[in-house]
Amino acid sequence: MPSIASPGVCSVAPDGTVPFGARPAAPQSPTGYDGGMNVVVVGAGYVGLANAVILARQHEVTVVDIDQTKVDRMNAAQSTVAEAELQAYLDTTNLNLRATRNLPDAVRTAHWTLIATPTDYNPATNYFDTTTVEQCIAQTLTTNGSSMIVVRSTVPVGFTNTMKEKYDTPNILFVPEFLREGHTLNDSLDPSRVIAGGNTDQAQAAADLLVSACEEQDVPVLLTGAREAEAIKLFANSYLALRVAYFNEIDTYAISEGLDARSSIEGIGLDPRIGNHYNNPSFGYGGYCLPKDTDLSDTIAGICLQQSTPHPLNVSLLNHAGDRLCQHIRHQVGAKGHDGRWAAWGSSANES
Ligand SMILES: NC(=O)c1ccc[n+]([C@@H]2O[C@H](COP(=O)([O-])OP(=O)(O)OC[C@H]3O[C@@H](n4cnc5c(N)ncnc54)[C@H](O)[C@@H]3O)[C@@H](O)[C@H]2O)c1
Repeated sequence: MPSIASPGVCSVAPDGTVPFGARPAAPQSPTGYDGGMNVVVVGAGYVGLANAVILARQHEVTVVDIDQTKVDRMNAAQSTVAEAELQAYLDTTNLNLRATRNLPDAVRTAHWTLIATPTDYNPATNYFDTTTVEQCIAQTLTTNGSSMIVVRSTVPVGFTNTMKEKYDTPNILFVPEFLREGHTLNDSLDPSRVIAGGNTDQAQAAADLLVSACEEQDVPVLLTGAREAEAIKLFANSYLALRVAYFNEIDTYAISEGLDARSSIEGIGLDPRIGNHYNNPSFGYGGYCLPKDTDLSDTIAGICLQQSTPHPLNVSLLNHAGDRLCQHIRHQVGAKGHDGRWAAWGSSANES
């Protein structure tokens, strides 16, 4: 662990802490926004790290994670995810950033607490496991009831309002994250949109906070209710999964019928309502988000929190990754007239 500041971090004391007074002065924002606030980001994964680094150009940012290895990496200006752009950014940008495992200590003076912890989908119960997010909300409120909490983890519809009622606070917003793994830095500096769920001045302030950290300030911003923001995130991922599945099926059909898949897909996409983007067939869809955010094997009610009556919308998604892989291999083997043993390595699927 370095004892003096290196680009991307400030100096770290022998006990692993970084006193706020030891931080380098926050650089003046290129956008003129000079908030200089205390921001805590909980979770040092894809979402948390990306949010932390873009905000740490203008604000004092503390990242909290339960994983000591990630905390150490961040305090040594090492990216916690394998993305070269993020590491280059940490190497070259003057950031006011430190990491710790101590959430109560970090949030004590926080104006904003962003939560980016995992919310895995449990197919057995048909629910997202929001335990870590709720734990972080509860711990934050216990220490600092005036910190504005911004949930960036993907949560089921109704979660934010349930938390506000349960903990009797208006200070929780849901602002969905739309970044893609592999593009986390660019998608954070140049997001497609910022959706702030809350319809309040605080939601506007949260949108301002995130937009002010972007490269350009003309980011589309939409303020909605919290439930609408939660639904937008889930339904956007459902659409993306459907689109991937659709082009995969076109590809499968093309192979089985001896058609040229690429030109077929290009011709379909020339219709401006469809477009020639996000149409690259693969073995299925993968990554962390699409499978879990679209696991709608029963009904979409599965992702809606404590829905007492089943929702009529039933979406059957096609993600036959294994079948498609076997089909491709059989096709290749058959085409070359070989028999015997084949090996495959380095396969991947479309992600979001
Ligand atoms: N990965 C994506 O592309 C993406 C995009 C949009 C939204 N999301 C959503 O954002 C959330 C986080 O995703 P991610 O990809 O960053 O996850 P991740 O697994 O990369 O990172 C999560 C981090 O949270 C830490 N953590 C777990 N429990 C904690 C706790 N109680 N306190 C502090 N830290 C804790 C973990 O150690 C880990 O470092 C999920 O809800 C996900 O669905 C992810």
